[in-house]
Amino acid sequence: MRSLRTGLSLASLATGVAMLGALLFTAPAAHAADPPLRDLADAKSKVIGTAVTGSKLTGTYGEIAGREFNSLTPGNAMKWGSVEPTRGSFNWAEADQIVDFAEAHGQQVRGHTLVWHSQNPGWLTNGTWTSAQLSQLLNDHIALEVGRYKGRLAAWDVVNEPFNEDGTYRQTLWYNGLGVDYIAQALTAARAADPAARLYINDYNVEGVNAKSTALYNLVRSLQERGVPIDGVGLQAHLIVGQVPSSVQQNIQRFADLGLDVAITELDIRMQLPADSAKLTQQAADYRAVMNACVAVARCTGVTVWGFTDSDSWIPDTFPGQGAATPYDENYAPKPAYHAIAESLGGGGSRPTDGCTATYSVGSQWNTGFTGQVRIACSGAALSSWKVGWTFGAGQQITQAWNASCTQSGAAVTCSNASYNGTVPDGGSVTFGFNGSWSGSNPVPTITLG
Ligand code: G3I
Repeated sequence: MRSLRTGLSLASLATGVAMLGALLFTAPAAHAADPPLRDLADAKSKVIGTAVTGSKLTGTYGEIAGREFNSLTPGNAMKWGSVEPTRGSFNWAEADQIVDFAEAHGQQVRGHTLVWHSQNPGWLTNGTWTSAQLSQLLNDHIALEVGRYKGRLAAWDVVNEPFNEDGTYRQTLWYNGLGVDYIAQALTAARAADPAARLYINDYNVEGVNAKSTALYNLVRSLQERGVPIDGVGLQAHLIVGQVPSSVQQNIQRFADLGLDVAITELDIRMQLPADSAKLTQQAADYRAVMNACVAVARCTGVTVWGFTDSDSWIPDTFPGQGAATPYDENYAPKPAYHAIAESLGGGGSRPTDGCTATYSVGSQWNTGFTGQVRIACSGAALSSWKVGWTFGAGQQITQAWNASCTQSGAAVTCSNASYNGTVPDGGSVTFGFNGSWSGSNPVPTITLG
């Protein structure tokens, strides 16, 4: 035991010395990384949030969620179907876990969501209810869930997605059973259960000025006139690359002019896969446009992304062939969109890898095999360690790598330096190679250094 301890401390001492040596070779100050997004957002009094899955809040996922964001939204954990799958039998485990994690990391929580047509428990949707029963169920659910987290949540998406695209009300369990006043009833019940939480109506395709957002505008104005508690509107912002509406800021402003808060609650920007550098560049511009629109309006409280990594996004399941919608790729490497968000929040946009590039090339190729090479080169910057990632677009599989440590999970490959070639000096380069298998085609993937 004793010698093991000594061995460990000697090893860590040696690592420390090695790191110190390596640090001397790191990029000059001009290339220092930006602070985390949450520090930039705090300085602007804005929210930068992410939807999260409770079971994933460990390891790299947990580190990024805690480090980069000042607000969390449970992606599914607080929905009625999650918390009361069987009538009268509750499961708060994931919701509690997320709220605890947020508090431990000095983050606020956005509750999502109390009254929706989707992800309700079967017993509720399949039941036959009188209006009086439905009204009681609604009140009880809100009193219980909002009450449970009273004083701990910054905001609630009280009513989710009440409108059709043309601005008419969506025919839901609630609308059909209680009429449009289910909305006022829900807001009133939420206020009673937690007077401190900001109460929102949240919907999608209401980012720009259009029939649906105008219906939302008219609704919240009439609620205000009637004295119904309403503090804000949530614009979900599930967008498509290259298709950010031009009127986002104007739309945010008109809600703000009503004295309401506006939050971008579920931002993601999807693309047809595979991603390539042109699409990722456009996506960064799109993220920047949404961020800038929010930053420009004082009452826009901030932006929450609907999952921060492509490995935790609803898009591929719902839109087959589409994805890459979030600011981090599946291997947790920040994408251009991440840097666009940082820049919108006042960051310099510099990154340690500025001035360094990774280039992927196919050396030789035969029947079903090939040799690939990656070169990492720096000019005006230097690295003390490196990690590259890419996603194979045609089922290629790495069989063996040298001068790097590579792992492949599905199509996603991550390679990091070997112990002896982490340093890439200014003006220098390193290479590593691998053998792979292919069939059909062997397209060159987009490679990310970060
Ligand atoms: O939990 C089960 C798991 O046990 C099972 O093995 C698996 C098999 O499909 O399904 C899992 O449940 C899935 C759940 O997400 C958790 O991953 C559901 O099938 C799936 O339908 C559900 O999708 C969620 C979707 O809402 C439902 O409409 C997404 O994760 C969630 O991101 C998404 O979020 C909504 C917002 O609440 C409202 N705005 C739109 C947004 C995107 O649809």
